[in-house]
Amino acid sequence: MRKDSLIFWDLLAKRYSRQPIADEAAYRKKLEVTQSYFRPDMEVMEFGCGTGSTAIIHAPHVRHILATDGSEKMIEIARDKAKAKYIENITFECINIDTLVLPPESLDVVLGLSILHLLANRDEIIKKVYTMLKPGGIFVTSTACMGDTMPYAKYLAPIGRLIGLTVRVFTQAELKNAMEQAGFAIDYEWSPGLDKAAFIIAKKPR
Ligand SMILES: C[S@@+](CC[C@H](N)C(=O)[O-])C[C@H]1O[C@@H](n2cnc3c(N)ncnc32)[C@H](O)[C@@H]1O
Repeated sequence: MRKDSLIFWDLLAKRYSRQPIADEAAYRKKLEVTQSYFRPDMEVMEFGCGTGSTAIIHAPHVRHILATDGSEKMIEIARDKAKAKYIENITFECINIDTLVLPPESLDVVLGLSILHLLANRDEIIKKVYTMLKPGGIFVTSTACMGDTMPYAKYLAPIGRLIGLTVRVFTQAELKNAMEQAGFAIDYEWSPGLDKAAFIIAKKPR
């Protein structure tokens, strides 16, 4: 295993891959909305792809997906799942989003699902995504905005850090503001419920 693999997520990977989707209807809707933006010639990058389930579902709708995650264990499981389904247009790579380097304006779509609240440098990464996207490209996100539902969670963040987990508490409005500050325009927004992840699609203007 890589020395810099994310230990907390490595330990969780097997269990995570067996976990059922918490809200199947909301998940399906997010997939459908995302796919309404896809074209068959598109180049997609997902960061924090976990065990690859979403990339595997989207793969038949685009040209290629670079699916990345900072946990080697997550990526191992993802590779096995894609192989079992004969999916050949996903490249899985174990890499932290902090160190991922791609040419500017090289991507049509970036997916960041259940990850932005786990990044200490969220705003830096949003700007990085903006740079990687082509004009007109989209950033698809689904994010626990705990500042709206459980603001006290910020007091638990230090406990998370003790076990190698970064958790950031912010509101949906703060997240949208960070995207707009980076240059994005909010193209689509949906919150399935009070304590559910906010689904936001941000577009880089042409
Ligand atoms: C909550 S899981 C979400 C997985 C998947 N996107 C999903 O929706 O099921 C968070 C994932 O982000 C990865 N991750 C956390 N911090 C990361 C970072 N800085 N760079 C890359 N991946 C990261 C973890 O390894 C984990 O697989």
